[in-house]
Amino acid sequence: MRILFVGDVVGRPGREALKYHLPRLRADLGIDLVIVNGENLSHGFGMTAKSTQELAACGIDCFTGGNHSWDKKEITALFDRYPILRPLNFPQGLPGRGTLVLEAQGEKLAVINLLGHYSMGMVENPFNMAKAEVERLRNEGITNIFIDFHAETTSEKNGMLHLLAGQVSLIAGTHTHVGTDDLLIHQGTGYVTDVGLTGCFDGVIGVEKNAPLYRFTTGIKKSFDIPKTCRTIFQAIVADLDSGVCTDAFKIKAYDKEPAQTTLQAYRL
Ligand SMILES: [Fe+2]
Ligand SMILES: [Fe+2]
Repeated sequence: MRILFVGDVVGRPGREALKYHLPRLRADLGIDLVIVNGENLSHGFGMTAKSTQELAACGIDCFTGGNHSWDKKEITALFDRYPILRPLNFPQGLPGRGTLVLEAQGEKLAVINLLGHYSMGMVENPFNMAKAEVERLRNEGITNIFIDFHAETTSEKNGMLHLLAGQVSLIAGTHTHVGTDDLLIHQGTGYVTDVGLTGCFDGVIGVEKNAPLYRFTTGIKKSFDIPKTCRTIFQAIVADLDSGVCTDAFKIKAYDKEPAQTTLQAYRL
């Protein structure tokens, strides 16, 4: 099966870029499943019913989340209506789920969403939870396993690759909003440290630049805003998975409404 994963989609510019580029990519590349990190879908913070419905209508098979999953309280009501994940390692008892099993081409794909530790809230150990969850899924006969590891540090993400290499099909990092160029396949596991955002790219990680600059130069917090108009970037990872193994992976990028281009081919480590 061929899957397409879009990292953090930030606000309306991100949603518009996704809606613009997805139909052509889906047709041109023969995509079977589309997975999107939605933690910043609604004005940069969380997911509302309206923006979730707007994207679900374009055939998103699974939304993953992150540290902003709970920013819009209405997400709790959305868990039953849409294929939305929140990180698996949030404390027990919270609503929602961290794993979802999808199907395409007669094969199953498990999507797992995990949150890193550094600069994040109080969550369970993502490495130990990932190991246990992967073991549970493999015992059920599910070998195609994709992890969206939503984490701040590159080392945590590198660590997750080496912990699970050969046991999962793809690990793609999200959260920093800045794409990395280290796409590779190691022991049959596709990996990239961060996919990068889809949304405004002429500000600071998708938000209007004045508020973060004020914060950096004065130390005082100011609320972030998403520009109404901006230059946009669309970024995604396409991966071919077969019986648990990532056989090929490449990165797609598109600026504004220019045609999407393949910008990186996975290196075989
Ligand atoms: Fe994000
Ligand atoms: Fe995040």
